[in-house]
Amino acid sequence: MHKITEQLKFTRIIPVVVLDDPADAKPLAKALCDGGLPCAEITFRTEAAAECIQIMSKEFPDMLVGAGTVLTAAQADQAMKAGARFIVSPGLNPAMVKHCLKKKYPVFPGINNPTGIETALSMGLTFLKFFPAEVSGGLEMIKALSAPYPQVRFMPTGGINPENLHTYLACDKVTACGGSWMVKEELIKSGNFEEIQKLTQEAVRTIRA
Ligand code: 3PG
Repeated sequence: MHKITEQLKFTRIIPVVVLDDPADAKPLAKALCDGGLPCAEITFRTEAAAECIQIMSKEFPDMLVGAGTVLTAAQADQAMKAGARFIVSPGLNPAMVKHCLKKKYPVFPGINNPTGIETALSMGLTFLKFFPAEVSGGLEMIKALSAPYPQVRFMPTGGINPENLHTYLACDKVTACGGSWMVKEELIKSGNFEEIQKLTQEAVRTIRA
């Protein structure tokens, strides 16, 4: 578990990806890696998710490829089998989370309130997705939640963009941010991997600034 969170501390952004066509997996992974962000969360919102994880992990073994929108234990199994290095979910489904923990698999469920945090803490989790970040109160909410739960580190996702990224990352409770702005579906579908690489490079510049 620790190794992945350590890597995320360095990577600082997780591109949240929706892929319909496995043929896009390799060029997308290349664009992210060439752009300086060798990391992706492939969401189980499409039938192609597991295959895309498999392709990216095989073609770019150094890339940190995880699975997102994992809603069930069965999907978690599919993701693990495909080679996902971590599992992310929008909410905290105890059955799915316990399944991952039983297999000693890194799992980062989503929460946006104290009850969610306490449920996660009772399961031994202190690294959590904060979702949907902006509409749940953004950075102010993270700061408010950190008062009673100083041990928690957050991965805000949902509404993060090039304008607010820097402010989130400046908060010591934020390990990394998730976002889709550099991997928008229309860019993937139109094969505009050049633009994806450019947006990724810009994001990396923000992190290292
Ligand atoms: C999502 O659910 O798609 C992720 O949270 C990404 O959100 P974003 O599109 O606002 O970056």
